[in-house]
Amino acid sequence: MNKPVTADIEALSEPLTFPVEAYISEEYARAEGDKLWAKVWQHAGRVEDIPNVGDYITYEVGTEGFVIVRTTPDTIRAYYNVCSHRGRRLVDPPAGANCGQGHKNQFVCGFHGWRYDLDGNCTFKLDEPDWKGALNDQRTHLNAVKVDTWGGWIFINMDPDCVPLREFLEPAAGILDPFEFEKMRYKWRQWVIFDCNWKGALEAFMEPYHVAGTHTQLLTHGDYYAYSAAYGLHGVSGFDQRDPSFKMKQSSTITRAGKGKDARISTYELQNEIYTTVNNASTTETLVNAARRLVDELPEGTAPEAVIKHWLASAKADDAARGVIWPTITPEQMSVAGLAWHIFPNMAVLQGITFALCYRARPYGDNPHKCIFESYAIERFPAGQEPKTSWVYADPVAEKWGLVLSQDFSNMASVHKGIRSRGFRGTLPNPHQERKITNFHRNLAEYMGTGAPKLLD
Ligand code: FES
Ligand SMILES: [Fe+2]
Repeated sequence: MNKPVTADIEALSEPLTFPVEAYISEEYARAEGDKLWAKVWQHAGRVEDIPNVGDYITYEVGTEGFVIVRTTPDTIRAYYNVCSHRGRRLVDPPAGANCGQGHKNQFVCGFHGWRYDLDGNCTFKLDEPDWKGALNDQRTHLNAVKVDTWGGWIFINMDPDCVPLREFLEPAAGILDPFEFEKMRYKWRQWVIFDCNWKGALEAFMEPYHVAGTHTQLLTHGDYYAYSAAYGLHGVSGFDQRDPSFKMKQSSTITRAGKGKDARISTYELQNEIYTTVNNASTTETLVNAARRLVDELPEGTAPEAVIKHWLASAKADDAARGVIWPTITPEQMSVAGLAWHIFPNMAVLQGITFALCYRARPYGDNPHKCIFESYAIERFPAGQEPKTSWVYADPVAEKWGLVLSQDFSNMASVHKGIRSRGFRGTLPNPHQERKITNFHRNLAEYMGTGAPKLLD
């Protein structure tokens, strides 16, 4: 499906509403398999998950499953995780895991022992002559799906007629390219199951409008009035320019001086607050340490812009000294990139110069009332010092995720319960601050052939 690739900044600025079926209807959830998931490019893993030939991961979405394997140093292939003989899942993800990961020279089905090489050719069929020559490569080859990469992510698409990945991701990909996500590596990765639809879980991270109600402790550090914009399939939000001391819609946490009379102190307080309550993500240790030194390095009364400039320059030098070279991102690129992206359909990226906090929410089979939720931080590390990480199931509490994420999690099941109530009159998304969510439902409606957002009457 082709979409406009230009920014649609003012679109969806009227008071709109959209139906709740997308969250709660079992029929809708079943239809998603064919109408949405079978048609879209979707993030199935990171390139770093499979560094060596023979490394594989499994990926499940709804009732479908895939094996994604590196077949040469430069080639990744993706197959339906289905044996051609009688359809057994070829690779069983470990019980209780969000995905499987391992290394194989060949895949051997656990039912009757048929074998497949990494290129998907069936290399052994027990008692093949019994078929009297009827088994050809077309019948027995693993069924492949499209696979491509961007920003260090592996994407797959089940639709053989889909547009190229890059086209699907634009204009988000072009706006985000300067951040060079492909040079970042996992810092941590955790997952959990929520009692809500996958869209509801993702939407909890699609607008800063909830900061005032959910993360009240952050209000002492800044103003969180947000803008949001539709970019075709995708959308972005950030902090709006209500503070006249900033000339652009500055929106990343690393372009804000916090709140308070002394920008040297407030910059540090904001960075430290984020680092400690967002699970050591959404900023970096380098940035926090450089912010801590501001009171020693700058005179009292230094203007906020000068504080930010000095802070970023000294953090950049600190990182360079340990072998982390910052990408070149102009102030205009930083401003346009905003704070938080929704990459249709189920990926969220909150980016900074050397880091990003990312989310993915997936359906739980075809049950609309549950989802698999994954979050991970990626960051640039000195070569050879990348942490070794694996997926960790983590109960949704502050001790495991940090205060801020646990606050977000506390809304998931409650929102889902509320929108299932016959007393709920329908969604009232903020026409300025939550357009990203409305755009999500506008695009969903096109794929699903359901009711698009409509004017509130
Ligand atoms: S189902 Fe795989 S070998 Fe029979
Ligand atoms: Fe939040």
